[in-house]
Amino acid sequence: MLHLKLETDPRWVTIVESNLEEILTDHAWCEQKAATNAITIITLNNEHEELVTELIKLAQEELEHFQMVHDIIKERGYTLGRERKDHYVNQLFKFTREGGNKTRTEAMVDRLLFSAMIEARSCERFKLLSERIKDEKLSKFYRELMISEAGHYTTFLGFARKYGKDLDVEKRWQDLVAFEGKIIKGYGKQETIHG
Ligand SMILES: [Fe+2]
Ligand SMILES: [Fe+2]
Repeated sequence: MLHLKLETDPRWVTIVESNLEEILTDHAWCEQKAATNAITIITLNNEHEELVTELIKLAQEELEHFQMVHDIIKERGYTLGRERKDHYVNQLFKFTREGGNKTRTEAMVDRLLFSAMIEARSCERFKLLSERIKDEKLSKFYRELMISEAGHYTTFLGFARKYGKDLDVEKRWQDLVAFEGKIIKGYGKQETIHG
């Protein structure tokens, strides 16, 4: 359903379990960035009422996720560290920004596809965590988030198709899925959500 080319190596979960404070810090900032990204899309595409309405809700959900992760960090006596760079997301961002002189619609569609891709991979990572992590509370937590991020994936992809009906959205999406399938081979080795 997520259209991903490659599944994460389950050994990544063992790396995550070796440093929960690190994964939780990274995860907290992923949620913050997801909220910020949704707000940026709203700012750039103000005239689309349905998009604005849905992305306000989505941004609120991401902020709620940020709060949930922050609460877990506090409960466990951990400290929220500095924001971590997300090389995976930066690579996807660069890819979807390629090919200058885009119309506003093209730029919007590419931003929506970029967002859908991150939701898809995050969802896959959360699913793996929920299935394999030994910590029961975190397993439940990641299952809950997996469902929410799957909904976001559908929202972003749905809007890309709706507003890009005059563009070849399927080709753009397939190109991105193929690119992601290539770069993800270099990840799965760090205790970060996309690392
Ligand atoms: Fe989220
Ligand atoms: Fe999300």
